[in-house]
Amino acid sequence: MVIRSVVQGWGAYLPEKILTNDDLAKIVETSDEWIVERTGIRQRHIAADGEMTSDLATHATVQALARAGIDGAEIDIIVLGTATPDETFPATATRVQERIGAHTAFAFDVQAACSGFIYALALADNFLRLGQARTALVIGAETFSRILDWQDRTTCVLFGDGAGAVVLRAEEGTGANTDRGVLSTHLHSDGRQHDLLYADGGPSFNQMAGVVRMQGREVFRQAVIKLSAVVGEALVSNGFSVADVDWLVPHQANKRILDSTARKSGISLKKMVVTVDRHANTSAASIPLALSEAANDDRIKQGDLVVMEAMGAGFTWAAATLRW
Ligand code: UT7
Repeated sequence: MVIRSVVQGWGAYLPEKILTNDDLAKIVETSDEWIVERTGIRQRHIAADGEMTSDLATHATVQALARAGIDGAEIDIIVLGTATPDETFPATATRVQERIGAHTAFAFDVQAACSGFIYALALADNFLRLGQARTALVIGAETFSRILDWQDRTTCVLFGDGAGAVVLRAEEGTGANTDRGVLSTHLHSDGRQHDLLYADGGPSFNQMAGVVRMQGREVFRQAVIKLSAVVGEALVSNGFSVADVDWLVPHQANKRILDSTARKSGISLKKMVVTVDRHANTSAASIPLALSEAANDDRIKQGDLVVMEAMGAGFTWAAATLRW
């Protein structure tokens, strides 16, 4: 008997306000042409005043629960990946818990920066496969607009706000039934790379939230190396070849990183889900946002093999394989 975490529902939320590249060109010395050419980003969504990460997460969750056809009370575990929690503590996941009435669940946040969703998925999957929970809510939610230096053109043009969520249900089975669900997760980190990408604040450091600081060119270079390696690791560990992959759902940081990683991995660009042009980099939210979009428009169908990959501050990097 094998237990697998099968996706039952998915949801996404983007704040109403859209900030275009032309809008940004009024704030810092940049241009639509530069941003599109170097990143593929055309616009990003920005949370309204007072709209918090938990609000975005709750909107996405309500959709995911409806799609799964279950009530919040049926959720046993909530894992929320974020680097921009509402408060230093308690976990933003407990805010979502309260709002959806998941009162018997246990809820906590995971901090793995842009890899947060895959880390959260891996944790939830392990709880489900161990039999410690039956139904999990996995969320990636961020309000990066709150931790940007709006005078720094090398970072403020890159990020956006949003949230995505999936509901996983533990399913037992034999034979064909066991094929669906999370097949594997592969997590990595390297604390030696801290200085390349970090927020220059924190409760213990200077009692502030800080803003994003990044050495973009070096992060770019390392991202392509690490992401293609972890995609290879995910395929090899399952005995898959690139031909088996139906959809690559990458963390959406920069279209050039996405393309280079897919090419280096030998995966056709036609199999890649891209949202970075409209969402920019939403950190831990980018993968569940992309998954939701591609599942909603029937690109991702039941039985498809989906490979997810992400890399972010820490460094952290990760991949997951999932039979939809
Ligand atoms: O989720 C993981 C986190 N982050 C990432 O994955 C981001 C990784 N890095 C990147 O996406 C890219 O490195 C950037 C988009 C950040 C930068 O692109 P690049 O092609 O690596 O440009 P660069 O940093 O080498 O900068 C080239 C030039 C510089 O001018 P000089 O020194 O050549 O005169 C920058 O000052 O472009 C300048 N520049 C800009 N110009 C207009 C940097 N940002 C901007 C801007 N508008 N927004």
